[in-house]
Amino acid sequence: MTKTKKHLAFIVGARPNFMKVAPILHAIENRNYIKTTLIHTGQHYDPSLSDVFFEELEIKRPEISLGVGSGSHGSQTGKLIIELEKTLVDLASTSDPIDRVVVVGDVNSTMAATLAAVKLNIPVAHVEAGLRSFDRTMPEEINRLVTDSVCDLLLASEPDGVKQLQKEGHPDSRIHLVGNVMIDTLLQQLKRAKGLDTLSRYGLEPSAYCVVTLHRPSNVDDKNVLNALVNVLIETSGSFPVVFPVHPRTQKKLAEFGLLEKLNSAENVKVLGPLGYLDFLCLTSQAKVIVTDSGGLQEESTVLDVPCLTMRENTERPITVSQGTSTLIGNDAEKLASHLQQIIENKYKVGKCPELWDGKASERIAEILCN
Ligand code: UD1
Repeated sequence: MTKTKKHLAFIVGARPNFMKVAPILHAIENRNYIKTTLIHTGQHYDPSLSDVFFEELEIKRPEISLGVGSGSHGSQTGKLIIELEKTLVDLASTSDPIDRVVVVGDVNSTMAATLAAVKLNIPVAHVEAGLRSFDRTMPEEINRLVTDSVCDLLLASEPDGVKQLQKEGHPDSRIHLVGNVMIDTLLQQLKRAKGLDTLSRYGLEPSAYCVVTLHRPSNVDDKNVLNALVNVLIETSGSFPVVFPVHPRTQKKLAEFGLLEKLNSAENVKVLGPLGYLDFLCLTSQAKVIVTDSGGLQEESTVLDVPCLTMRENTERPITVSQGTSTLIGNDAEKLASHLQQIIENKYKVGKCPELWDGKASERIAEILCN
């Protein structure tokens, strides 16, 4: 049988992958000469970290779910490679083998999918290529370096990413500056999100609360570091409400270190479970300030024009600091307090939206992938 359609496999696994893949799949669905297969590795399996995003962002049900789950980095990555290799080999023996794998972001599933595919000589496109924090203690930095070094199509979200890929020796023919797909999703969903009753449900007023997210090992795995951050959040809640949707790994660490009770007993701190995409966007888009260690939120806050105090020593997204609304705070409690004060007094810097973060990145990516 002759193959008529180009066949792309999209591989996702963890929460920040889902909002990146959604607009690309939607852009490709409009081109009927392309077939897509969505593979979910199951790195994130809690409904609040996975299913809710598929429903809200109308992502098709994955054709293949691998259920790999959690583990140490070595064992999780190992399991991911084994299961993905089996899947790609099975698909290769059908009448419709995969022509190209597409991966997004920098999670363990991204790197594992890339390794499994390139070793089977399947070409791989990486969406969000070229970002570097230059901090090799971050698991994501290793994932980014390994992924980009063997992909043949490098789709960058910001000009610094392009420069870095050139510096690492990738030929220009493989690199494309396409913009930011996460921002495509944000712009598509913003009106819908702002129409929700999320603020009133939590007793919040627009521009009068702080949203917090923390999940990086560097902030949550050490008791002293996490305790100091918890103290700052409680102190901040004296000025305005602090809303803290807690990631499962942070929840475990807070409980283990006996800090959950301390946070829960602070009157003006609202400790919540992980939120869906729309509720969370409703909160972030109307916040006075965001305190976070997330990569995606540094970008989203820049587009939303909300100050972002980034609880990291470095960032792989420097444009959010040089042009956007983010400032790197590390885990320095005094620096956090002084920047919060600037924001309360409306003396914080004003950002601008980076080039090509215009809601059309997924169309540009679809064009490249389909041709
Ligand atoms: C992963 C990504 C990180 C991303 C984050 C977003 C890597 C190396 N890290 O971190 O880049 O910013 O997702 O959330 O890929 N757990 C659950 N339920 C789940 C999944 C995980 O409770 O559905 C708990 C488990 O205890 C697990 C721990 O969270 O061991 C860590 O999960 P893992 O997927 O290894 O990394 P994240 O911290 O979620």
